[in-house]
Amino acid sequence: MTEAERRAALEAIAAEVRDCTRCRLHEGRTRAVPGEGHPSTEVVLVGEGPGMNEDRQGRPFVGRAGDLLVQLLASIGWRREDVFITNLVKCRPPENRDPEPDEVAACAPYLRRQFEALDPALVVTLGRHSMGRFMPGTTISRAHGNVAPADPATGARDALVFAMYHPAAALRTPAIEQASYADVARIPAALDDARARRSGSGPGAPAPATPATPVSSSAAAVPSPTAPAPLERPEPDSPAVDQLTLFR
Ligand code: URA
Ligand code: SF4
Repeated sequence: MTEAERRAALEAIAAEVRDCTRCRLHEGRTRAVPGEGHPSTEVVLVGEGPGMNEDRQGRPFVGRAGDLLVQLLASIGWRREDVFITNLVKCRPPENRDPEPDEVAACAPYLRRQFEALDPALVVTLGRHSMGRFMPGTTISRAHGNVAPADPATGARDALVFAMYHPAAALRTPAIEQASYADVARIPAALDDARARRSGSGPGAPAPATPATPVSSSAAAVPSPTAPAPLERPEPDSPAVDQLTLFR
């Protein structure tokens, strides 16, 4: 697909989402939140579902969690418009409750079609619900900072999944915020692994990319920080990651 075709496919999906009544979540929404980002990006971020600010604006991650997400991306020299950001469910659950399994299932075809249009190399899950969809059978405290092959049934045909804590959890808990900065710093390497795997030229291909070393274990969770980890921000003039390398 060309970029124009991808953009058109994403816009068609978004138009359907805005009118969707496939599950009960449509009843309480102000605006559906289809997702947004660069149509040619290789990286898709998947959160849980819209919150109050997202529901009002019709855009993903525009509240405080979104501000932190932008800061996390900035710590590796990326901008939110360089990736595609969406959610498991596109309409806000009442009182921000967890989405029910039948709601996630009803909404899944939209995410699958977004993956088919974008064909990402790397899917980054934000939070345990999103992780559970792509990396079943593990826990967020074990999986964060690690990759696993994506199940092609999700629509991500040939991708790695990288798990992160939800930024809202990072806002509540400084140790999780610190871990999130450490995790996001691994994303560029995970993207390189994902690309190598797709091209069949990676070290050890076709085996899955080497998982990143777990950041924490249950025994030694994250050291209690006095301040968020001072992540090496790339120099403005020499970004650690060439912006162009984010795109196909
Ligand atoms: N939390 C999410 O999971 N998604 C959003 O879009 C905003 C907050
Ligand atoms: Fe449709 Fe998804 Fe919204 Fe449910 S959450 S009404 S399936 S767009």
